[in-house]
Amino acid sequence: MEARIEDKALLPSTMALNLNTIRADFPILSRRLEGERKLVYLDNAATTQKPQVVIDAMNDYYANTNANVHRAVHTLAGEATEGYEASRTGIAAYFGAPRDNLIFTSGTTEAINLVAYGWARANLGKGDVVLTTEMEHHADIVPWQILSKECGIEIRYVPLDRETMTLDMEAFEIAVEDASLVCVVHTSNVLGVRNDVERIIQLAKSRGKGGEGAHVMLDAAQAAPHERIDFPELGCDFLALSAHKMGGPTGIGALFTTTDTMETMKPFISGGDMIETVTLEGSTYQKGPHKFEAGTPRIAEAFGWHAAVQWLDQHNMEDVHAHISSLARWTAKQMRDIPGIRIYGRHDLETTSGVVSFLHEMIHAEDLAHLMDAGGFAVRTGHHCAQPLMEALGVSSTARASFWIYNTMEEAEAFVNHLRGVVERFS
Ligand SMILES: Cc1ncc(COP(=O)(O)O)c(C=O)c1O
Repeated sequence: MEARIEDKALLPSTMALNLNTIRADFPILSRRLEGERKLVYLDNAATTQKPQVVIDAMNDYYANTNANVHRAVHTLAGEATEGYEASRTGIAAYFGAPRDNLIFTSGTTEAINLVAYGWARANLGKGDVVLTTEMEHHADIVPWQILSKECGIEIRYVPLDRETMTLDMEAFEIAVEDASLVCVVHTSNVLGVRNDVERIIQLAKSRGKGGEGAHVMLDAAQAAPHERIDFPELGCDFLALSAHKMGGPTGIGALFTTTDTMETMKPFISGGDMIETVTLEGSTYQKGPHKFEAGTPRIAEAFGWHAAVQWLDQHNMEDVHAHISSLARWTAKQMRDIPGIRIYGRHDLETTSGVVSFLHEMIHAEDLAHLMDAGGFAVRTGHHCAQPLMEALGVSSTARASFWIYNTMEEAEAFVNHLRGVVERFS
């Protein structure tokens, strides 16, 4: 039985976006693999493809403006500095934030490390609890493990509710009372689940640290490509994200934090550009985000990310989310009918993201991915940098198809049909 795009109720919003126009903006989407197979790119949770405007912004910077920033007085240096700082302003504005709330990092991983080594190491110690969860990416586990050995903080993990495949909020409500810092993944890179981050922040602020209120860090790597995040409105203390998962270049991301919290942070990478004065006896540091951006920054990447948010800003992110989640919901529903396929996650919720993780009872995930690739379908396999979550699910890896703004129902249908064919061949 072939999959059919018949359940129109699942597709209300797919029509709100002009997918032909959107797809035309991404040159790679017209690529034929080995000159033949049409590419169906379903590895968007790992990294998204880039619209031409992002590629152009980076090329144009290197072709016409390339110079180091914050240093020389010559014309190119002035233009590069102006463009770099305009990128900070534009990207911060996309997230509803003042420009001084945005520290450029290499991505989500470095942003979370900056919270650990820049803020937690300076403000927490023995007796403090960092509350995180079993659903986290390794980027939100390993820094805490290293820091706990160094300064005695205790890490506690909120479990996954194995039945509902969502965070155990009852356990969270109890655990949050002891927490000084709450670190939670906004949207899972494995389960297609968006955590109730508004409630998590509200509970952490009202009940955390014995009622004093806990600091909150959200890992928004998978959320920023799916929904419009307003950092001040959200009310968390730290927001970590990566440009490359939202149409921007690799190698750049951000830590958003408030002015007050930034003042309590110490630099953890130091050297040129972050200082005010240096003598052989000691140094003084710049104020604001520059204090945390030592060395030559990712200048072309900032230009590229700025172009990406300007491109995204043309679209209503509610339509984008509805489109992506309806693709994932439809695909997961069809896949459940394929014999031997097991889906991990929730796709029946309004908040479902674009991720569908799955396994076949007989075919190894790695083999499945190769067989899908033979049909032009790019999917990811592995533990998705979430080994504790894999353990909670009772598996060592999964295959994962993940959708973004440019994917179509025809691609979802072709994916399901190719997967069904692969499974039939092996049965
Ligand atoms: C939820 C989540 N957190 C953190 C990261 C790490 O992001 P990066 O590798 O861009 O630092 C990822 C990347 O897959 C992710 O999905």
